[in-house]
Amino acid sequence: MSHSVELDGIGMRFGSTRAVSGVSFTVQAGEFFSILGPSGCGKTTILRMIAGFLEPTEGRVLIGDRDMRGLGPNQRPTAMIFQSLALFPLMPVWENIAFGLEARGVGRAERRKRADDLLRLIALEGYGDRMPGELSGGQRQRVAIARALAVEPGVLLLDEPLSALDLKLRQHMRAELRALQKRTGVTFIYITHDQSEALAMSDRVAVMSNGLLQQVATPRQLYDNPATPFVARFVGETNAIAGRVSAIGDGMARVDTALGPLHGRADRSLAIGQAATVYVRPEALMPGVGANTLRARVSRMDFEGAFALVHGQFPDGAALTAAVPSTRLGDAPALGTDASFSFAPEHAVVLADA
Ligand SMILES: Nc1ncnc2c1ncn2[C@@H]1O[C@H](COP(=O)(O)OP(=O)(O)OP(=O)(O)O)[C@@H](O)[C@H]1O
Ligand SMILES: [Mg+2]
Repeated sequence: MSHSVELDGIGMRFGSTRAVSGVSFTVQAGEFFSILGPSGCGKTTILRMIAGFLEPTEGRVLIGDRDMRGLGPNQRPTAMIFQSLALFPLMPVWENIAFGLEARGVGRAERRKRADDLLRLIALEGYGDRMPGELSGGQRQRVAIARALAVEPGVLLLDEPLSALDLKLRQHMRAELRALQKRTGVTFIYITHDQSEALAMSDRVAVMSNGLLQQVATPRQLYDNPATPFVARFVGETNAIAGRVSAIGDGMARVDTALGPLHGRADRSLAIGQAATVYVRPEALMPGVGANTLRARVSRMDFEGAFALVHGQFPDGAALTAAVPSTRLGDAPALGTDASFSFAPEHAVVLADA
């Protein structure tokens, strides 16, 4: 049985440090939900409040609509995989997996059977009698996940479980974890500071900065419609051109910038005269003149196969990055020259400066 998790205005103070302030969101039962943000923004603190290792100094945690106040980690339907996980090195794999069941009075034969079922689930059938030291990093990670699933949690809390693995293994494990979550239907709350990991794995993502919730949205929405300047800069690459709003209408805004007037999709709260920034993704910039044109001095070109990253500098020194598809490289400007790049207004977002 999987559960929903509702955070209702939770906050955490450590002495004079406010680690988390007024965070509210609801994770649906069976959802793969990520919490994304830079180091120190309060991700682990939120997970520890959900698991019951920390009691919030304000607000409530509800799991499956039940208020969790006063309930310890063992009384909650959650299991947590910690940032620095460790298996018991002197215990075979199957006993590691069944560890939580012994405390619940499950007999040895039944424990072995459950461990074998879980080994099949994580594609490590037949590995039960190995010692943790005889497994690869990714295999150990899967055993840690099986151990957490053994107690049949309604909610699995994962604190950067892939951060210790190399890039190749991390990408492989992303797909495995995602498939495992869909197969079990358990609610996953997954912490990461890696935005591509969050985008690739999640049904929805909460972005945090400095203890504050910035936005909760699907990966697509986060990328296409960032709600705050922080999200626009933190999720994916972007070009940011600052100016002042000079016209608004039909969901679009014109911003007067040092590079000339630029148009983009407008946030509802924008007002004429307000300081605002136009955010354009590198892949939205094409060589040539168009509705919105930026001129920059081309300083570097990184060929990456499917596309080339063209780096340039605006007259004021700010950086420009354009991702030009290889099929259009014939149009790409030469190094050291001043070149024009244009973008469609609907591919840019205008947000008021914070
Ligand atoms: N027990 C504690 N006592 C005092 N301050 C703490 C405690 N635990 C966390 N903090 C502070 O709270 C803030 C949030 O910490 P937290 O561990 O939640 O960050 P995080 O987002 O998980 O970061 P990372 O990505 O580095 O793991 C930090 O400024 C941290 O120093
Ligand atoms: Mg952390």
